Amino acid sequence: MRRVRRSMKESKLYQNKNNKTWADILFLEHPEYFLPVLESLIEEAKLEVDGLTKIFKDFNILPGDKIFDYSCGIGRHMIELAKRDYMVFGNDPSDFYIKRARKSADKELGDKKDNAVFYKGFINELSKKVFSKNKFDFKAIIIMFNSLGFTEEEEDVRILRHLYEIANPGSILIIQSENRDWTVMNTPNHYISNFDKMLINEIWDFNPVTSIAHSNSKFYEKDSINDCIHLRLELDIYLRMYSLHELITLLSKSGWTFVKGYKDIKSLESVSTNSQFMITISKKE
Ligand SMILES: C[S@@+](CC[C@H](N)C(=O)[O-])C[C@H]1O[C@@H](n2cnc3c(N)ncnc32)[C@H](O)[C@@H]1O
Repeated sequence: MRRVRRSMKESKLYQNKNNKTWADILFLEHPEYFLPVLESLIEEAKLEVDGLTKIFKDFNILPGDKIFDYSCGIGRHMIELAKRDYMVFGNDPSDFYIKRARKSADKELGDKKDNAVFYKGFINELSKKVFSKNKFDFKAIIIMFNSLGFTEEEEDVRILRHLYEIANPGSILIIQSENRDWTVMNTPNHYISNFDKMLINEIWDFNPVTSIAHSNSKFYEKDSINDCIHLRLELDIYLRMYSLHELITLLSKSGWTFVKGYKDIKSLESVSTNSQFMITISKKE
């Protein structure tokens, strides 16, 4: 009995007293504090899109084909894919990130602006309201940079199922996610990220019982006039970590057939236990 109670408590760690998850607080209430992280990775996304398009080519997915970006954030990958003539659609629950993505697309895409369409909302709402009513014929779906594992495993299965439902037979799903095997070997860890206007301090630990990586994260705003920093947000972040074989099980529970794994989206080297991220390619048969 005691054991059951403890595991229930652990499984709700990611939720605060008001039933808000850390992801609600960070991405929906204070998205501006994570924005510098996403902006600092815009150049990186261009190199990642080189890898993505190589995979697309292997599956005969070509410019002009439709791609869906789940939790697209500020559209780092979508805008680059749109520049390369793919027709990209993406969703994100953060109004702030979607507005930022649309603004960048207006600025950067010129006459290719219509190649990128951004939807504000969660995938469960959108799959009913938008994607089930129109036939989109997505050839590939991408999930980039830790956009799973925010809450329970069942929630990740639900998300993957929604994506399965909006995919056409033959289409592929590419997931980039942090590799549990690497996390186990590289925590505890302390990161300080220094951006123009913000400083982020993260102290990470890993719980092998729950397979949840936890960070006490502090977001500071820089005050150049008074030469000091102000603490704007302190947040406990909980990320559920999967090893490759666990992600394959989740994919299979959601209908997807695992095809191949890579170590890294840029190098497309074979999957290994010692890389921070892993890439899975799965197919809807
Ligand atoms: C780490 S960011 C990655 C964004 C984008 N894929 C990229 O590579 O730049 C995670 C994204 O997931 C979105 N997100 C997905 N599910 C969410 C949820 N349940 N609550 C809050 N944010 C969520 C956030 O708004 C955020 O844009």
